Amino acid sequence: MTRPSNDTFLRALLKQPTAHTPVWLMRQAGRYLPEYRETRARAGSFMQLCKNPGLACEVTLQPLARYELDAAILFSDILTVPDAMGLGLYFTDGEGPRFERPLREEWAIRDLSAPDPWDHLRYVMDAVAEIRRALNNSVPLIGFSGSPYTLACYMVEGASSSDYRRIKTMLYDRPDLLHHILSVTADAVIAYLNAQIESGAQAVMIFDSWGGSLAAAAYEEFSLHYMRRVLAGLIKEKDGERVPSIVFTKGGGLWLEAIADSGCDAVGLDWTIDIGEARRRVGGRVALQGNVDPAVLFASPETIAAEARKVLDSYGPEQTGHVFNLGHGISQFTPPDNVTALVDAVHQHSRTLRLQGR
Ligand code: CP3
Repeated sequence: MTRPSNDTFLRALLKQPTAHTPVWLMRQAGRYLPEYRETRARAGSFMQLCKNPGLACEVTLQPLARYELDAAILFSDILTVPDAMGLGLYFTDGEGPRFERPLREEWAIRDLSAPDPWDHLRYVMDAVAEIRRALNNSVPLIGFSGSPYTLACYMVEGASSSDYRRIKTMLYDRPDLLHHILSVTADAVIAYLNAQIESGAQAVMIFDSWGGSLAAAAYEEFSLHYMRRVLAGLIKEKDGERVPSIVFTKGGGLWLEAIADSGCDAVGLDWTIDIGEARRRVGGRVALQGNVDPAVLFASPETIAAEARKVLDSYGPEQTGHVFNLGHGISQFTPPDNVTALVDAVHQHSRTLRLQGR
């Protein structure tokens, strides 16, 4: 199969040389874009937008029409998987995601099973296929899933949480129950990501947004262990091309070496760690993705460009193996024109560094 005409993102994940450092942004299709808000209003709700492949494709392409991004990411949400497991996902304005039937009873936990992605999550596979057709091999398409632990947080808490009281009580009092949830969810994530790859996703990313809230030993036992299992179960090659994987544990900087050894091709970094230091610590075992503070996008275009250059300079000489990104999702309050300043600065400065042989 032919590589996309701009394959810098895939090459960087495999630590191959590129003419510039590729850049994409977590949540690049979202509420900061007026055209996204317009399509979402037309869809009726966020979930109706996710479940309509034509509209999901439309919003996936919106940031690519505005900015010279080097990758597209499927428009969906990590919580589609627990929704397909029967928990009843809904969104209320300003309150974020909620489940009608959170996992609170032992019988419900024992009843849990991994959904068939070709049945209950068919709308996601249809969206992936439609986006691939629309991209027409211009840039690669990223598929994604939540990590088993992050999905379990939402499934047990029933909503976003500030203290993770319910899931941590279960973790300490009934680790057997939590392990059961994580084991079923890991199977669900493997099947879900593999179905996305079969449908056309050219790289996959695992969002472990809440792994960083765990104690070190608990992170190993309840989050990283299951991500390793997911990574081991993924399709590694499709049509003769490697399908690289990225693991992003927000707040995972302390455990970087262990994450780099999990079987992924790249580690996503939040903004709290210096990327040059992270590179020295992983010693070329994996590529790195990140990691400018999303709040930089509220500053002036000159400051944004300077902060982008700092990350590239810190990554250091021979700029292979770096995918530029934010350290977390873009804020809904970001002025859209500021994103242009960031993307252009990454492309320009990374080309300059290469010309200077740095
Ligand atoms: O990156 C992309 O552009 C792809 C789309 C994407 C969304 N959510 C769209 C979305 C991705 C990759 C996600 C992942 C996701 N969803 C995560 C992991 C990444 C992270 O942020 O840590 C998590 C934890 C979720 C769960 C979730 N979905 C929350 C907490 C919320 C509410 C967020 C908020 O700011 O209110 C959502 C809703 C959501 N998912 C929106 C978007 C664009 C906003 C929904 C809207 O239009 O109202």
